[in-house]
Amino acid sequence: MGVLWPLEPATGAKHRLYKHYFDAWWPILLQPSPRSGGSWPKVTFLDAFAGPGRYETGEEGSPVFNLRGLLNHNHVDRMGLSRERVQLIFIEKDRATYEHLVKELYENFGPLDQLPVRVEVRCGEAGQDSDRLLTELNAWGHPILGVFDSWGNVNTPLSVMARIAANPASEVIVTFGPNWFSRRKELNEDIVDGVFGGREHWTHVAAARDSEEMWRAWLDSYRAALQRVGFEYRLQFEVVPRTGKPLYLVYGTKHPRGVEVMKDAMWRVDKSDGMRFRDPRVRNAVALGQVSLFDDGEVIDPELLALVQQRLSQGPVSLEDLGQWLLLETSQWRARDAKKAVQDLDGDGRVILPAGRLTKASVVSLR
Ligand SMILES: C[S@@+](CC[C@H](N)C(=O)[O-])C[C@H]1O[C@@H](n2cnc3c(N)ncnc32)[C@H](O)[C@@H]1O
Repeated sequence: MGVLWPLEPATGAKHRLYKHYFDAWWPILLQPSPRSGGSWPKVTFLDAFAGPGRYETGEEGSPVFNLRGLLNHNHVDRMGLSRERVQLIFIEKDRATYEHLVKELYENFGPLDQLPVRVEVRCGEAGQDSDRLLTELNAWGHPILGVFDSWGNVNTPLSVMARIAANPASEVIVTFGPNWFSRRKELNEDIVDGVFGGREHWTHVAAARDSEEMWRAWLDSYRAALQRVGFEYRLQFEVVPRTGKPLYLVYGTKHPRGVEVMKDAMWRVDKSDGMRFRDPRVRNAVALGQVSLFDDGEVIDPELLALVQQRLSQGPVSLEDLGQWLLLETSQWRARDAKKAVQDLDGDGRVILPAGRLTKASVVSLR
């Protein structure tokens, strides 16, 4: 039997998001920035659960499409690529899968030591080797994007996330496969302690009543863990493919701009096949998808309305603060979505607005 497996719909949906996000991330980190007056001397991308680089159904895996996206980027001439400055680290535990990845990279890009960026592929274990490899490659002290796509058995210790969070402009993306929440019972409790930063941070989750409750509670718990280690801004959401099982993603960044870029990527994803992103806070809203949202001013996603009402139920808020809440606290909504939502709720008589034109300072309350 070969080492490849078919692309699951949720993985395909996640890849669409990654492609847009990485496409935005590389130039932001590598191009000279008018704001900072310079650019970073070193930037590291770590794909700690790299996979074989290809799916049985022919699609490229994350190491291949990411490296291709970087080398063929529209702005590549302005990104100052060099082997000293830009490095990609791929870790894969399974020997045969690792060997396939090495072969796949060679077939697609030629000898890795002749590329304009450094690519290190290692057969190793994400939890133990991420830290060691980042040290070996002098990544600390500079921006790092760590992607931890572990399938079911999330086992990367929170200490690795903490060490990444201590670097400037650094971020992590951690995915939880659909089986993690059920398989968790089979995991070694000490490992779960390491992932969540202590037993007190996860035992209450195990008491959740049903599977719906459970994944929300695990994601909340993990989001809080990323906050504790220094990722000031976090997003968590469910990636729901049109068919098949969903997967869950938590993103941590140190800068609100990162959140904007991730959300922009979420909105750029082609969802015409019916895939969607879902906010864990909303239980019963029927998600209509975003494609028709606001285009004709008629359809507003019920998830957005439910979230705005949730926020207003805590008390009146200015339109500006409502927008910031949507941006920083909800999975996919942006600051600019606040106004449309409030206008829609006003049309239904569900909110109280001050008379006159709606401005950032207008205070909105629930009727
Ligand atoms: C979900 S797949 C990765 C998919 C890949 N990132 C992509 O998007 O194309 C997870 C991979 O991690 C590998 N793996 C499992 N446990 C690991 C560990 N502890 N450290 C590193 N790799 C691991 C598996 O062999 C598998 O190839």
